[in-house]
Amino acid sequence: MSSHTVEVTGPDPRSVACAPGQRLLDAFLRSGVYLPNSCNQGTCGTCKVKVLSGNVEQPAVSETVLGADEQADGFVLACQSSPTSDARIEVPRGAGSGPGHPLRDLSGVVHEVREIADDTLELTVGIDEPLDFSAGQYIEVTVPGIGHIRQYSMANPPSSADRLEFHVRRVPDGVATDRWIFDSLDQGHRIEMRGPWGDFVHDTEADAPMILLAGGTGLAPLKSIARHALELDPEREIHLYHGVRHRSDLYDVEFWETLTERHPGLRYTPCLSRDDGFGRHGYVGDVVLADFDSLRGYSAYLCGPPAMVDAGVKACKRRRMPGRNIHREKYTPAPTSAPDMVPA
Ligand code: FES
Repeated sequence: MSSHTVEVTGPDPRSVACAPGQRLLDAFLRSGVYLPNSCNQGTCGTCKVKVLSGNVEQPAVSETVLGADEQADGFVLACQSSPTSDARIEVPRGAGSGPGHPLRDLSGVVHEVREIADDTLELTVGIDEPLDFSAGQYIEVTVPGIGHIRQYSMANPPSSADRLEFHVRRVPDGVATDRWIFDSLDQGHRIEMRGPWGDFVHDTEADAPMILLAGGTGLAPLKSIARHALELDPEREIHLYHGVRHRSDLYDVEFWETLTERHPGLRYTPCLSRDDGFGRHGYVGDVVLADFDSLRGYSAYLCGPPAMVDAGVKACKRRRMPGRNIHREKYTPAPTSAPDMVPA
């Protein structure tokens, strides 16, 4: 079957070829047409576009993500839908002004698999061709044999574009972690990926002091953002809070302590919610509330489990940080299977 032609309307009209079964978002990003996107799983609603003409199918979508009125008006989620004919698609205002690194397939060889905390690995992969990405973005890894996709944020800054670092937390009985990465993945193994994805990215135009709030392996994109920000300005004021439950879940302590010695504006605060005796006791949002009377003039980047991110956002707002300065990414469980497609 041949590709369908998708006309993208808006301030910068373009024509994009979309292969049978290819998702709109994938086709757009590969063609250099940037669309806001975050989860690539149909759960955040960031990638909605309007079908003006033609046939586009997508799986049943929760009305909390795409309202019934919007669906009746022809809106679809670009990350979930595929055209079955030529189509005209209206993209939202703001499309085209994102990170703008073309999506592509990547292949790489595992350089190192290192245990860094309880049930947590650091995975380093050398890739065949350097990847252009923005600090904070992620890639998707294909689980060999079964084709499932898992998402991991880069922890390295964009300057080390040919060696990607990921933090991987074991999911009990998880097909990607328990049964592959933690079980058999080793140095020299080849892995297939695609990326970069996401618009949780370091805003390099803003020079406000930064608050970084991480929960568990949500540290990865913030490590990339902090390293990138310090490469651009070694004096940058950055306050990193890393929250985990127990001391044995904490990792990268030495890395951050060494970095704080080199960068006087960097503060590193590990937070343990269930243990005492190291760093601070409590949740990251509560520790930030205790540390700051006001966060006016700051910007924040938060990444981790949804409850941690929501509490952290609330804390920033209580300390009067404007909503437009708050960037967030929630780590949500990957779907276990692909949903059925229906016409939109
Ligand atoms: S719903 Fe498409 S990127 Fe989240």
